[in-house]
Amino acid sequence: MEVRDWQGRTGKAWAAEWQRTDRSFGGLTERLLARSRDFKFERVVDIGCGAGELSLALARGRPHANITGVDISDDLVAAAERRGAHLSNVNFVTADAATWRPEPGEAPDLVVSRHGVMFFPDPVAAFANISSFSAAGANLMFSCFRPPAENPVFSEVAAVLPPVEGPAPDPRAPGPFAFADRDYTRSVLESGGWSDVRFEAVDLAMVTGAGPDPVEDAVSYWTSIGPAAERLSQVDDATRDEWIAAIRQLAQRHSKDRVVALKAAAWIVTAHRP
Ligand SMILES: C[S@@+](CC[C@H](N)C(=O)[O-])C[C@H]1O[C@@H](n2cnc3c(N)ncnc32)[C@H](O)[C@@H]1O
Repeated sequence: MEVRDWQGRTGKAWAAEWQRTDRSFGGLTERLLARSRDFKFERVVDIGCGAGELSLALARGRPHANITGVDISDDLVAAAERRGAHLSNVNFVTADAATWRPEPGEAPDLVVSRHGVMFFPDPVAAFANISSFSAAGANLMFSCFRPPAENPVFSEVAAVLPPVEGPAPDPRAPGPFAFADRDYTRSVLESGGWSDVRFEAVDLAMVTGAGPDPVEDAVSYWTSIGPAAERLSQVDDATRDEWIAAIRQLAQRHSKDRVVALKAAAWIVTAHRP
């Protein structure tokens, strides 16, 4: 995935889908908020904040803390600003977090992210930048996916579509699974100036379909954002119809108690700036 994907079609799709995305990430958001209570903080930066859910939740829970969400997509920052317009302790900035810096005197003592740090083309340089603008003693806490095989919410969707042609992609390339490997992620963070890197494994059920017709809800969500949506945008109408039928069968197999939910596996990674 490239930065320009987020500035274009992918960012627009995520901006339109923030409610269903927040629903699917709900269990993880709760766990991130619970873990944030381990830290003392007054100034927070949320990297790759998207439509702002984690920034907004922190701002609501900590009215005396200042939260800044940074994201490279104008569309997502606009959605976050709309959602946070009534809160005086949160603001959002459109910028590349790999090079952005806060104003002097505004160094964060906590840097957070819900799945927004796996897309840097040069992750060591990006984390070195984030460490250089953070206060001495600052903490870092972010979530990211564990490997695809532990994430049926991705692997089962991929499995109902024909295999992608060409060489296997680099598992560390910018994308949802770039930080799935613990040793690699630890080395990126340590090279970027962070220490005491720790991993908590979090398993969750991602709700992809609910409401009056959970199966169709899941089909429309999977065909709007994520890897299936990306591939569907590149094929002709007949192939598209065939693939959507396969995705519908998958949703039917996972529909239970009026909800479509599949397992997902994440890390919550924490680290410290000496
Ligand atoms: C998987 S989404 C997560 C969004 C949000 N944190 C959430 O949980 O809904 C990844 C986010 O990272 C942002 N992003 C990717 N590269 C970035 C960069 N270099 N600087 C800032 N944001 C970036 C994208 O625009 C996108 O909003």
